[in-house]
Amino acid sequence: MAKLNHLFVCQDCGTSHSKWSGRCDDCGAWNRLVEETVRSKPGSKKIQTEAFFSPLSAIDEDILRQQKRLVSGIEEFDRVCGGGLVPGSVILVGGDPGIGKSTLLLQLVAALSAVANCAYVSGEEALSQLRLRADRLQVNKAAVHMAASTHVGHIINALEQLPNLALVIVDSIQTMAVESLESAAGTVSQVRASAQEFITSAKKKGHVVILVGHVTKEGVLAGPRVLEHMVDAVLYFEGERNYDYRILRSIKNRFGATDEIGVFSMENQGLTEVKNPSALFLANHQQEVSGTAIFAGVEGTRPLLLEIQALVAPSYLASPRRTAVGWDNNRLSMILAVLESRCGISSANRDIYLNVAGGLKINEPAADLAVAAALISALKNRPVPVGSVYFGEIGLAGEVRSVNHTEIRLKEAEKLGFSNAFFAVPRTPKKNKQTFGDASIQVHPLRYVLEMV
Ligand code: TYD
Ligand code: MG
Repeated sequence: MAKLNHLFVCQDCGTSHSKWSGRCDDCGAWNRLVEETVRSKPGSKKIQTEAFFSPLSAIDEDILRQQKRLVSGIEEFDRVCGGGLVPGSVILVGGDPGIGKSTLLLQLVAALSAVANCAYVSGEEALSQLRLRADRLQVNKAAVHMAASTHVGHIINALEQLPNLALVIVDSIQTMAVESLESAAGTVSQVRASAQEFITSAKKKGHVVILVGHVTKEGVLAGPRVLEHMVDAVLYFEGERNYDYRILRSIKNRFGATDEIGVFSMENQGLTEVKNPSALFLANHQQEVSGTAIFAGVEGTRPLLLEIQALVAPSYLASPRRTAVGWDNNRLSMILAVLESRCGISSANRDIYLNVAGGLKINEPAADLAVAAALISALKNRPVPVGSVYFGEIGLAGEVRSVNHTEIRLKEAEKLGFSNAFFAVPRTPKKNKQTFGDASIQVHPLRYVLEMV
């Protein structure tokens, strides 16, 4: 007879407890323990198979050939995955509800179905709804195997019937349930067990599995963090609801660089790739206005020019407002302090607002110099020199520190028609003279922020 085990599992960290309590002993979260019943089937214990070692060099070319990546042709997606999908890998795609995960992945399978055998399993939508979506995306002719099911055992059995399967999309992992667990779909044990089943099938059969995961209000993947450890890559699909663009960002990738981004725009007929995001974000840039400066940023390996806007207004508050949208508030305060103490530019009795135009968030310290330029320009009410870009980290001594990818940033600025670049003196000046010597963009290496004032 199957034995029932009652466990109380923290829905945040996934730790199981034998007794209920108000607070999880492990992560300290309150009211997150949920009773989950596990039915252990007699004889269902896995039998350990033998382990053996082989020399690294003996792992032969057959295996390497199998590792040939699946390239979808959707470049923005392929790049984020590190140049295509690695056979046998498992990828988790997270994102807010309605951001476009299902749309993206349906377009992906449709594109890949031309070269490989693909399946799409939805636990959220009926087949008729999927068909409507495919009509809208104009991919209804694609040879994709579609299924609407939430039963992991059935799905895996059905997948094994498909010959030469290359890719399976599971939308979403929170709707999937395995039979051996009594708890509801979406609970930690179900999410973990379902994911484990799909991962095992991927490793055994060598197909790619893409799991869709929902994101909670706090912005983390619902279910335990263990899910992120179990998979090979974690991608987040994000964007502001009021803007059309969407960004696919890699958070973890065992087969490629992290922090790589892919930019899409959500149109009536699905997502289209944005090949030149800088142009998108600079579309409304006005040059002769004080308080704006262009930051030459780099996301992953790709340059991205963004407009930083600062506004200064007289303050009627005892402690003036310092508001940053799309940037770190503490860093804004730090830069204001540097400007005040090292450059003699006071912002007392003034409210300061900083905004990254387009609704994007930046967390590169290299944006410091552009923020400083925007702030100085706003405080002095004078526009920055026409056609300038800025990048560099600012230290507390008022020095400008060099950042990486100087060449990529300069090239992108040059490509978009900028004529001046202000940045930190690179650490190896000799080498850089050679590299930037013949560029048409005029370079102004800075040692101190004061030089810019
Ligand atoms: P969806 O892919 O269902 O989001 P998720 O799977 O992440 O929950 O996307 C839903 C949103 O995208 C919905 O608000 C409508 C919009 N949308 C478009 O603007 N154009 C389209 O072609 C499609 C299919 C959806
Ligand atoms: Mg969806």
